[in-house]
Amino acid sequence: MTEFQDKLEGEKILITGGAGFIGSHVVRLFVNKYPHYQIYNLDVLTYAGNLENLKDIESKSNYTFLKANINNVDEISQLFKKYGFTKIIHLAAESHVDRSISDPLAFVKTNVIGTMNLLNAALQIWNGDFQDKLFYHISTDEVYGTLGETGLFTETTAYDPNSPYSASKASSDHFVRAYGETYGLPYIISNCSNNYGPNQFPEKLIPLFINNIVNKQALPVYGDGKYTRDWLFVEDHAEAIDLAFHKGDDKETYNIGGFNEWQNINLIQLLCSIMDKKLGRKEGDSAKLITYVKDRPGHDKRYAIDARKINKELGWKPSVTFEQGLEKTIDWYLKNEEWLRNVTCGAYRDYYQKQYSR
Ligand code: NAD
Ligand code: DAU
Repeated sequence: MTEFQDKLEGEKILITGGAGFIGSHVVRLFVNKYPHYQIYNLDVLTYAGNLENLKDIESKSNYTFLKANINNVDEISQLFKKYGFTKIIHLAAESHVDRSISDPLAFVKTNVIGTMNLLNAALQIWNGDFQDKLFYHISTDEVYGTLGETGLFTETTAYDPNSPYSASKASSDHFVRAYGETYGLPYIISNCSNNYGPNQFPEKLIPLFINNIVNKQALPVYGDGKYTRDWLFVEDHAEAIDLAFHKGDDKETYNIGGFNEWQNINLIQLLCSIMDKKLGRKEGDSAKLITYVKDRPGHDKRYAIDARKINKELGWKPSVTFEQGLEKTIDWYLKNEEWLRNVTCGAYRDYYQKQYSR
């Protein structure tokens, strides 16, 4: 019997965005760890969603995939009525800052309206009976804006989003809170720092650079490369979500981070050096690919999370060091060349051309 089995027998848990990067790790963890829960993975399969990510669990009896768009209010409402979900972990989103700069409205539609559709559908089927119900909303540290040289984002840092992506996530966080206050909807929000690991679409820094190093292509560093991010291995994020889902308090926010700040350029140098060794290249070969390119507009200087609350209250801490996580990640991409080839053909090439020829 697993730790939470007696508490949550018969749960029907909806996980949105489960075919994406973080979602697929959360779905795998829940399907394997909680065979007595029914897990429903709802995903429309945008360019970032990939069922290949879940090949190893797709035939498990407690797993169901639902192809649906959270922007489609009727479809969502019907699925909630049909399956009677008891709890929701909401990850589906447009998640890439650069894409939000070229198409902000798409981010409002999915991240704000899509979240509203889920909130409304939950209110409708739960109909005031919130006993053992939960809307767990997965958010980001980007809602807090940017930090200077010092300081950390805490759960009480004021929201100050700078990109259309972070503004849309901040807006959805506010709606979740407002539904809690106004209608009594039980919710938890967690705000996490930059994730990395297997199955991440190669539009984000680490997988994009791994792919380019393998293919000996330029490594496009935005601006002066002195931007700082706080990196967390994706499986550690999934573990934190598991803990907050089961042990977190109603109407609470938990910040999740890696205690692991890196300036982009230092991280890139480390990546190049590990990749040179793994690929049998001369030390310094990959670093020669580094190319400074035009900066991202509104580029946030520094993110860093104070994760002491989830550590103290729920006992969570990252299980791997950055060096271990990065090694696992690089090994995964090198072993899964076909996955990488499949996701980088066609539309990816058009995106890449547009984004990096500005
Ligand atoms: P991702 O882009 O890899 O995956 C998003 C998933 O959502 C995809 O499978 C996609 O098909 C699905 N989706 C998108 N629009 C949809 C729609 N309209 N209807 C149904 N499904 C839709 O994203 P990710 O990096 O895994 O991020 C997941 C969540 O975690 C997001 O809410 C993001 O804001 C948040 N987050 C991400 C990070 C990070 O570093 N990647 C850090 C903190 C928080
Ligand atoms: O902080 C959490 C957020 O982290 C999540 O909410 C987002 O969903 C996720 O995409 C991520 O946002 P970032 O913008 O920080 O991630 P990205 O990988 O796009 O960029 C990381 C840093 O690297 C950032 O400073 C921009 C820089 N960068 C990125 C790319 C893609 C480059 O210098 N060159 C690049 O080609």
